[in-house]
Order: sequence, then structure tokens, then C-alpha cells
Amino acid sequence: MRPIRFATASLAAAALTLPLVAGVATADPSAGREAAPHSNARFDRLREAAPEGFFVGTAVAGGGHHLEQDYPDPFTSDKEYRKILGRQFSSVSPENQMKWEFIHPERDRYDFAAADGIVEFAEKHGQVVRGHTLLWHSQNPAWLEKGGFSKEELRAILREHITTVVGRYAGRIQQWDVANEIFDGEGELRTQDNIWIRELGPGIVADVFRWVHEADPEAKLFFNDYGVESVNAKSDAYYALTRELLRQGVPVHGFSVQAHLSTRYGFPGDLETNLRRFDALGLETAVTELDVRMDLPENGVPTQAQERKQADYYQRALSACLAVDGCNSFTIWGFTDKYSWVPVFFEGEGSATVMTDDFDRKPAFYALRDTLKGARG
Ligand code: G3I
Repeated sequence: MRPIRFATASLAAAALTLPLVAGVATADPSAGREAAPHSNARFDRLREAAPEGFFVGTAVAGGGHHLEQDYPDPFTSDKEYRKILGRQFSSVSPENQMKWEFIHPERDRYDFAAADGIVEFAEKHGQVVRGHTLLWHSQNPAWLEKGGFSKEELRAILREHITTVVGRYAGRIQQWDVANEIFDGEGELRTQDNIWIRELGPGIVADVFRWVHEADPEAKLFFNDYGVESVNAKSDAYYALTRELLRQGVPVHGFSVQAHLSTRYGFPGDLETNLRRFDALGLETAVTELDVRMDLPENGVPTQAQERKQADYYQRALSACLAVDGCNSFTIWGFTDKYSWVPVFFEGEGSATVMTDDFDRKPAFYALRDTLKGARG
């Protein structure tokens, strides 16, 4: 058995030797703090380990649940966070900063400051940007949801938002999550909680893709959702819808799975099969929000077995994407537990990302890096 070293906050001091979990190569000579200055390992960073043309991304922490926490805005205030963000990743996704409630807080006022900052950071660091998101049932401002607008007004508001936001970043966004989470768990369109579909009918989805394409003909336009990693009722609904929209010539370019996974449940072993059927339609595919949460022991520190299981999930999600030709974008929903949304939403669960609060690398980090290296051929 090969020895491996763990780098969690609690275990970093003791160089532990553990058996290697099947399929997860985690041996690493530079285990320890994220930015080990002495490390000269080849392809030490995720972005440089990745095969040519394959983008490894992360959500950029800010807005949303962060506003309720006792720390300042992560992206603008945390120097170490920014350093790792620039070094490790080749793609960035604003976690909240391009959502309606942030970027369009009043009917006649946009606030581009946070989104501009991320796009400029990305350009400075040679990264691409995934725009998130334009048509969603959540995180819409109260002025919109409670405005009592007529159908004509709503249509005009939506079109104007798209022209303004997509137009502002035209040519600078690689992929847009145009429509986010439009189906429920049974594969039914969200005709009640999605204001746009409820008020304007299902046809608005195709119109939105057309408007986004007009505003930025270069961006790849995606449907994005959770719970669609497997072949199931919900992913079937996307399959039927995208096939029909493509038949009608609507500019849909991609289907992406968020992949908010939990070790409580089995890994969605048919992920690759599912991605392949969208690939066969001629669509790009992507993994856009991967994290793997777990039930934390009472002391809050995951066991080695839990971390190995988590690493295995990360590795399998990445391998599924790497195996599919048109899956060239793989994004994790944050890279440090310090800023993860998981403990805020799921009581007793956490440790869902690839680095600890202190930016120490977990086995999941090495699993990603080594799988990327392996895919270079
Ligand atoms: O609803 C209250 C609002 O009334 C209040 O004004 C505001 C300010 O404190 O807080 C409000 O809700 C917060 C919300 O963001 C809106 O800003 C929630 O408490 C907060 O938990 C929430 O978090 C974000 C969440 O999306 C909202 O759905 C997370 O930061 C963000 O990571 C998460 O990201 C989503 C993706 O966009 C889509 N896929 C799932 C993923 C994880 O939920």
C-alpha cells in the first residue's frame, strides 16, 4: 500500500500514513499549506494540471449567505483567498454577484461594481468567466417579484435586463447560465415559483436564449440545474426540452449539472452516461457547482474515511466530465470551507470543499489535481 499524507487543519501537524482509496491518487510531496512557497512540483496548480482547453473553475465568494456572516466580503477583502483564486483556477463564476437582486437592485438602477471586479480579476489572471444567472425563480429583487407588473411590462423588464447585463460583458463571458433550475424534482416546469414562466408562459425560455444570443453572440448559452446528474425525470425533461429547442433553431449551446453532492447518498454513477446523451444532441456539457458535503462528527472534524470518500466523489465527477468530449468546463462551488454555503443551509453538515478554513488542501484537492494531470495523456 502506498502512503498518503493528509493536510486538514487538524491533521496537518501529524504526517499520517493511510491506505490509498481505490481510484484516488493522493500521494503528494508538497502536502500542507495551499501556497507552499518551496513547492516546485510540476503541474502543482489545478489550472496548469488541466489538459489543454479544459477549464477548472470555482465560484467567487460574495453576496448571498456571506452577507449574514461575521467576515468582510471574501473576494475584495481576503488577500490569501484572492491569491489562491488567481493561481489555481482558469474559470470563475460569480456566486451571487450577477444575480438579479445584486446587479439590478432597483428597477432603474444597476449595480455592476462587484461583477465588474470579478470580470476584471479574471482578465488579469487569464481566466474565463461563467455568467450566473439570468432567468431564475430565486434571488430576484422584491421590486420585481412584488411589483404587480403587467405581462407586457415584465417582458420589457426582462429583455432590458438581458440587453444591459449581457451586453455590458459581451465578449468577456465564456458561458452563461441563461436558465437556472426551471424544472422541479418531478421534471415539471416551475410554473408557479418562476415569475417569468408563470406570467409569460413557457415560451419565454426560448425568447430569453434568443435575446442573450443577440446581446452576446460569442457566449455559450446553458441550461443549469441541480439533481440532474443522473438520468432521471428531471434530466429527461431537460433532454426533451433542449432537443425540441434545437429542432426549432433556438440558440441553446449547453446543458450543465450543478452537482451539489452529499456522501449521505451514493455517487451518481450514471453521470457520464447522462452527459453523453446531451453531448450526442450536439450540446456542450459542464459541471458547474460541485461540492460534496458530509455529516460532521461532534468535534466538527471529518474522519479520514470521510475525507477519502469525499475525494472519491470529486474524482469521479471530474473523470465523468473529462470522459465526455464536449465537457470542457468543471467548476467547484467554492474552494474553501471558510466561505462555503453548505453549513449555512444544512445543519450538522459541512467540509464540502477541497480546502479547509485555513486553505489547507484536503485529499479531494489532490484527487482533482492528479486526475487532471492523468488526463493530460
Ligand atoms: O432571503 C433573505 C433576504 O430577505 C435578505 O435580505 C438577505 C440578506 O441577508 O438574505 C436573504 O437570503 C439569502 C440569499 O442568499 C439571498 O441573498 C440567504 O440567506 C442566503 O443563504 C443565500 O445564499 C445563496 C444561495 O445561492 C441562494 O439561493 C448562496 O450564497 C449561494 O451560494 C447559492 O448558490 C446557489 C446557486 O446560485 C444555484 N445553485 C444552488 C447554489 C447553492 O444553493
